[in-house]
Amino acid sequence: MEELNSKSKIRSSRKKDHVNHILKDNFESDNYFKDIYLEHNSLPELDFAEISTKSSFLGKDISFPVMINAMTGGFDKAVEINSNLAKIARELNIPMAVGSQTIAIKDKNYEASFKIVREVLKDGVVISNVNAFVSVDEARRAMEMIQADAIQIHLNPAQEICMPEGDRDFKGVLNNIEDMVKKIDKPVIVKEVGFGISKDVATRLRSIGVKYIDVGGHGGTNFIKVENARNEEFDFYELFEWGIPTALSLIETRAISNDLNIISTGGMRTANEVVKALCVGADIIGISGPVLKKFVDEGYESAEKYLQNIIYKSKVIMLLLGKKNIGELKNVPYRIKGELKELLDGAK
Ligand code: FNR
Repeated sequence: MEELNSKSKIRSSRKKDHVNHILKDNFESDNYFKDIYLEHNSLPELDFAEISTKSSFLGKDISFPVMINAMTGGFDKAVEINSNLAKIARELNIPMAVGSQTIAIKDKNYEASFKIVREVLKDGVVISNVNAFVSVDEARRAMEMIQADAIQIHLNPAQEICMPEGDRDFKGVLNNIEDMVKKIDKPVIVKEVGFGISKDVATRLRSIGVKYIDVGGHGGTNFIKVENARNEEFDFYELFEWGIPTALSLIETRAISNDLNIISTGGMRTANEVVKALCVGADIIGISGPVLKKFVDEGYESAEKYLQNIIYKSKVIMLLLGKKNIGELKNVPYRIKGELKELLDGAK
């Protein structure tokens, strides 16, 4: 029990460290959405008032296909952070995923900052989050804790391997995910945390029955940089550009099949990027770091406004594309240029 307590304390202090580091520095780079070109339409034949951003996710209606993606929980300030983020999600009627619940599965004392999200979001879409090593029972416990609509399983070998206290053995993960997909009666979302899902990984996930993939690509919050800042023994500068850019990961994952539900996360910062992602095949977009930063640095209103701006400007872009709803964005012709084209063309 003592060992469990001390592990929980390490996890809790790490979660606090992550938030603090992410708030201090800019850990971002290029997600390659700049290389997706959408064509302007001078004859949209639309009234701005009729443009709708309504969508649905996990069987519930939402007002805009963007979610506040997994971040935090399990330390002193996390109740305040999560309750405010959940309030934003409720006001905007968008989904929210909680941060890793591993700490609270092991120790009930850490449940409050996760439970508050369901309390505040009421009937909205709330998503659990666990690591890929938890058992089916533990995953079920995480979902019961917040009456989750789905569960995210995060894949983060790049983060763990750069973390002094991180995991070193990554064997058995695919089998464990298969077990969860078979035995959990709600959708299982497999997500990266910022290094992207490759075509091969997406194919392997689909082959074991995974239907929801969050590509969590390179270009936004970068956990190699974050862990580098926490690591006193090694530096990882040479890996700062490691990872699959979000735009590439999204396009290649979508090319595998139309039956996958794809979440595009990783450096999604602007309405332009959100609309581009929807045009090239995302079902929904995930945003994490900036919402947290806005809330902690500038307060609730600023964080909410940040997302409201994205929603408004997405409608502006939809008008300029001549598309009146989210479904129609799937038919927008787009072109790929620059390095993204090179990466796509260069694939063997
Ligand atoms: C994260 N992320 C994350 N992901 C996850 O699956 N479980 C987790 O517990 C966390 N924790 C976490 C903490 C903080 C402070 C941040 C900023 C992020 C990763 C997150 O869900 C997302 O995949 C990446 O941050 C990339 O998106 P952004 O930040 O570039 O929008």
